[in-house]
Amino acid sequence: MSEKALAYLSENRDRLLQKLNEFLSIPSVSTDSVHKEDVSKAGSFLETYLTETGFENIQQIETKKHPIVYAEYTKAGPDAPTVLLYGHYDVQPVDPIELWKSDPFKPEVRDGRLFARGSSDDKGQVFMHLAVFEAMMKTEGKLPLNVRVCLEGEEEIGSENLYSILQEKKDLFQADFAVISDSGMVAKNQPTILYGLKGFTGVEITVSGPDHDLHSGMYGGAVRNPIMALSHILASMKDEDEVVTVDGFYDGVEGLTDEERQLIEQVPSEDFVRATGITETVSEKGYTAKEHTMARPTFEVNGIYGGYQGEGTKTIIPTSATAKITCRLVPGQEPDRIQEALEAHVKKVAPTGVTVEVKKEKLSAKAYKVEPNHPLIQKAAHSYTKAFGKETVYVRMGGSIPVVEWIEDIYNIPIVLLGFGTPDDRLHSPNESFPLDSYDKGMETLVYYWNEIK
Ligand code: BES
Ligand code: MN
Ligand code: MN
Repeated sequence: MSEKALAYLSENRDRLLQKLNEFLSIPSVSTDSVHKEDVSKAGSFLETYLTETGFENIQQIETKKHPIVYAEYTKAGPDAPTVLLYGHYDVQPVDPIELWKSDPFKPEVRDGRLFARGSSDDKGQVFMHLAVFEAMMKTEGKLPLNVRVCLEGEEEIGSENLYSILQEKKDLFQADFAVISDSGMVAKNQPTILYGLKGFTGVEITVSGPDHDLHSGMYGGAVRNPIMALSHILASMKDEDEVVTVDGFYDGVEGLTDEERQLIEQVPSEDFVRATGITETVSEKGYTAKEHTMARPTFEVNGIYGGYQGEGTKTIIPTSATAKITCRLVPGQEPDRIQEALEAHVKKVAPTGVTVEVKKEKLSAKAYKVEPNHPLIQKAAHSYTKAFGKETVYVRMGGSIPVVEWIEDIYNIPIVLLGFGTPDDRLHSPNESFPLDSYDKGMETLVYYWNEIK
């Protein structure tokens, strides 16, 4: 059964890649209102593709920001299982644009990789699913299982409107299990299924001082410098052992069992030094970098600004300084409680002479973890192994996909996190790319999986 679909994919490879390029050429950057039309254009692309493939009841569900594309296939009948396929068609901004070797929205193949924003996260992987459905429909005239498709345009901004839509239209998205390809493998060609993702929350700290920039000669010595004050606050939040020193941050954190540490130890490791250009890894005292990224909470400053940024010197005491902070959470940590703990800490250590404000970001999600031995996960692992010729490994990863927790919360169904990206894809960064052999083998995996499930 799989052979025909696989032959179709290989015969139509060039045309399908051309079509993927068309999808990737649409700059669907969800965070930037300048691209609002483009996000909607990417949604329409999917709508058209789903229609051509033979899906039914296709809709763009409008939200306050970007639409959710819905489609269904029910012809496999009431005895066949139903899968909820989730993915996102929005992408991260491209800046700094000057670091891209080719235009982020003019896909280009170099060294067997397809370079474009979204090639890996997540338009490329969404497209793989649709191409596989097309191949099955065109060769067999049907799909082996029922499908409900949920493709959103707000994942990269925290899936702002998805939870309420899923609740409102609970019946529409009802399925027996969910499949998400929005992650990667621990090493290239190493089949990897995720059994856990991290949660997420954030705050923004703004320190305000004088009501206008001051001459630093005239006022230095009388006025607290907001950038310095902010630096003191930040420095008090994590120590040199990479331990977060905010009271309550680790409350309720599920410890790592010896068994899980062994499991992590056995998983082939990403070469952090080579992939990132750092000199050496650093991680929480008592944990390896692999353990910390996969299974321990983190605290990161994502951006900091204030004062003079131009060429040369400008002798001022600036009016304010801001830091953007996000934390990745593990099971046991509540996003709201973490925000409160961060705020309380900042208020406690804030120096006098400046005003300190903590803004709690709306964007947040709880961590997710399942037992990897569910039969549907095992079948996915089997298909993965068949396509890549290698045993599948199960890992937790540091990324976050807000919908995962909501699917569990609203539907309580198994979620199969089947990702095809690689550590070298440069997600969210300039020169994002996706290896074409992962693209081919990934689709092969999906063909086997759907046929094995029915
Ligand atoms: N696809 C990623 C999440 C991911 C990356 C999972 C790698 C596993 C491995 C997703 O698009 C993403 O970037 N999510 C954001 C969510 C945030 C904005 C709430 C993230 O993790 O930063
Ligand atoms: Mn993604
Ligand atoms: Mn992303």
